[in-house]
Amino acid sequence: MKRNHTKILKKIFKSKKVLITGHTGFKGSWLSLCLRYLGANILGISKNIPSSPSNFLTSNIDKIVKSKTLDIKKIDKIKVEINKFQPDFIFHLAAQSLVGVSYEKPLITWNSNLMGTVNILETLKEFKKRVTVVIITSDKSYKNVEKKSGYKETDLLGGEDPYSASKSAAEIAINSYFNSFLKKKKNITIGIARAGNVIGGGDWSRDRLIPDCIRSWSKKRKVEIRNPNSTRPWQHVLEAVWGYVFFAHKLKLSNKLNGQAFNFGPKSKKNYKVSELLNVIQSYWPDVRYHYPKNRKKFNESKLLKLNCSKAKKLLKWESVLNFNETAKLTADWYYSYYFKNKRTQAISLDQIKNFEKIFNQRN
Ligand SMILES: NC(=O)c1ccc[n+]([C@@H]2O[C@H](COP(=O)([O-])OP(=O)(O)OC[C@H]3O[C@@H](n4cnc5c(N)ncnc54)[C@H](O)[C@@H]3O)[C@@H](O)[C@H]2O)c1
Repeated sequence: MKRNHTKILKKIFKSKKVLITGHTGFKGSWLSLCLRYLGANILGISKNIPSSPSNFLTSNIDKIVKSKTLDIKKIDKIKVEINKFQPDFIFHLAAQSLVGVSYEKPLITWNSNLMGTVNILETLKEFKKRVTVVIITSDKSYKNVEKKSGYKETDLLGGEDPYSASKSAAEIAINSYFNSFLKKKKNITIGIARAGNVIGGGDWSRDRLIPDCIRSWSKKRKVEIRNPNSTRPWQHVLEAVWGYVFFAHKLKLSNKLNGQAFNFGPKSKKNYKVSELLNVIQSYWPDVRYHYPKNRKKFNESKLLKLNCSKAKKLLKWESVLNFNETAKLTADWYYSYYFKNKRTQAISLDQIKNFEKIFNQRN
């Protein structure tokens, strides 16, 4: 018999106080919508709105959550806010999230991604209320040895570019705080969620494939594709975000999961090429056009990062549910509705959340 996970999630999150750091970002805005949909009362902490347009503003998320503009690097202020809010759940996403920017601004990247996480951990050290914490890192935390079978949670960490390295370092800090301080605190349950590159409506970050394309396609311009043959384990943002929510609810229910890391990767065994993704998007949005340039901007980015998600399947009973085609379609539909059907993006996203939820309940 299929389970109605939503019923359980609504029971867990309804009227609960949830703190989301990085709520104005791509994933944070989707997470805010999902958790509001489940009935949570949200406080979001972010430094800024990282893109223009942004899903946070186009979807009016500022109207459905309480927002504080705050830098995660400022420990004293972070402590005050968390202690004042007294959350039941914390999702920590705030980070300088772009590999390209991390080469331009390594210090900001390290401070935000490592010390920002340490500041959350330091606050938890003295926190008295029962709280469940999910810290979002990345598939890029793993040492990239071009492993084809997929990285497991027990594989070595050690990203090389500043972004990846700062995420690996954040994981070492979490592990250290957990073993030194948090494990013995009965009121705190903490877990690490590692997901890879996600796509979906509402991302307008720079130097990411889909947002770069969307900016041009929305003006009916042809777009340059840097690496058509690059493969990525494409995953829809809802898979990762719903995975974080699902993980938090399991963490709350089982102390055995305390202190553990889990991968949240896509279902497909195959890593599709950029050109294949664009082909599918084109089938839902016929006007899109692209070409491959001669001079490519170069920075070292991990070539192949694939996650083995059997631990999440076994211990959390979580599995990614959308196939490649569905992932691309949801993404194309969202942007197309926004740009050419003048639809309100909160309505588009909510429709997609409800649709995704049904699929998740049927297939998981
Ligand atoms: N998008 C992806 O494909 C992807 C893949 C793997 C991991 N992640 C991780 O998921 C999280 C969210 O990613 P995203 O794509 O939504 O990022 P994003 O760039 O869209 O948003 C980043 C968010 O963090 C906030 N932030 C940045 N620095 C801050 C600081 N010093 N203090 C307070 N807030 C700060 C921003 O204001 C924003 O709300 C990040 O931790 C990122 O590393 C993202």
